[in-house]
Amino acid sequence: MLHHCMHGKPFIYLDSAATSQKPRCVIDAMNRFYSEQYATVHRSVYDFASAVTAHYNDVRQQVKEFLNAAFVEEIIFTKGTTEAINLVASSFGKAFIQKGDEVIISVMEHHSNIVPWQLMCEERGAHLKFIPINARGELILEEYERLLTDRTKIVSIAHIANSTGTLNPIEKIIDLAHARGAKVLIDGAQSCGHLPVDVQKLKTDFYVFSGHKAYGPTGIGILLGKRALLEKMPPYQSGGDMVEEVNLHASTYQHPPLKFEAGTPMIAEVIGLGAALRFIESIGREKIAAWEQELLAYATKRLSEIKGLRIIGTAEEKGAIISFTIDDLHPLDIGTLLDIRGIAVRTGHVCAQPTLKCFNLSSITRISFGVYNTMGEIDAFISALKDVALLLCPTLSY
Ligand SMILES: Cc1ncc(COP(=O)(O)O)c(C=O)c1O
Repeated sequence: MLHHCMHGKPFIYLDSAATSQKPRCVIDAMNRFYSEQYATVHRSVYDFASAVTAHYNDVRQQVKEFLNAAFVEEIIFTKGTTEAINLVASSFGKAFIQKGDEVIISVMEHHSNIVPWQLMCEERGAHLKFIPINARGELILEEYERLLTDRTKIVSIAHIANSTGTLNPIEKIIDLAHARGAKVLIDGAQSCGHLPVDVQKLKTDFYVFSGHKAYGPTGIGILLGKRALLEKMPPYQSGGDMVEEVNLHASTYQHPPLKFEAGTPMIAEVIGLGAALRFIESIGREKIAAWEQELLAYATKRLSEIKGLRIIGTAEEKGAIISFTIDDLHPLDIGTLLDIRGIAVRTGHVCAQPTLKCFNLSSITRISFGVYNTMGEIDAFISALKDVALLLCPTLSY
């Protein structure tokens, strides 16, 4: 992909927050599985089936080490972040949320960390409360402390916001929640693969991420949950693999993680995820984070050359995401004209409508980086953006 052209121009990919491009090793691992080793897991004794079951279990162990989880049983394979949050909202809700209880999220969440909680709160008669943000797009922690009560059962917050790029102080958020007896889910969709994550050090109860945003395939995600909580939570879906014994009128279930993994799983995607995590580790998360911070700083500085450009999200601590508007220009026009120049950016509400409303906006342009981006690509993007701005607003001059 990164050596291809788009509209005859060298392809510049600035949309890694939406999904990352895939390293060759991930594509090869999945191809090898389908063309030379294909069988299903957990069901049969023949050689290929045993080998793929071992490989599948190894990836679970690999994820445990990647997140520094306490137990491999705490790692559940899901379709992605969205499914992982839905699983927790539904299952934790059934186990622990009573009428009148409270759930806290922030106004800076991706839709998939809002809607599942709305549905669950509606069903359980609970109240959903929201941490506000300041003009820089940072959570107002004093307000958060005020929102926390003895009825708060769970707090669910993005590690890095996909719209403003804000890197949230999750250690503090987790400590404050625990002090009031509430559990915490960290939405790591934008952080895993970009910076080191140690779930034991964080003491988080749940941590979720999507493989496809961390150089892995689509259709695979991770839910990490503390073992004691997972044991108490009811199944989310049911079917094969998650049961111990099935009788016509009642069944017994496996222990986690299998209790939450009904049906034939996403085997190729798990194998691809294993290759992606090896790719990340081969470079090192500290090094990836440092490079992305350099890209972020350079792009932020160069964007100041664009007249009328306003960065949405100027938090002190940020991931490699920059959202912006340019006076009088519609993001859709900016995105379309950049596309013709070979540059892929995200435009629209970026699945964060409540966040954009805090800035009186309904649409933005967003650039975001991965480990493969270069300073040269930022230069090319800035020059194309000046072109686009001139074309759309000829009274400008550069
Ligand atoms: C912060 C955040 N949470 C959740 C999601 C949902 O991830 P997925 O669509 O992979 O389930 C995204 C995707 O953009 C995200 O950025």
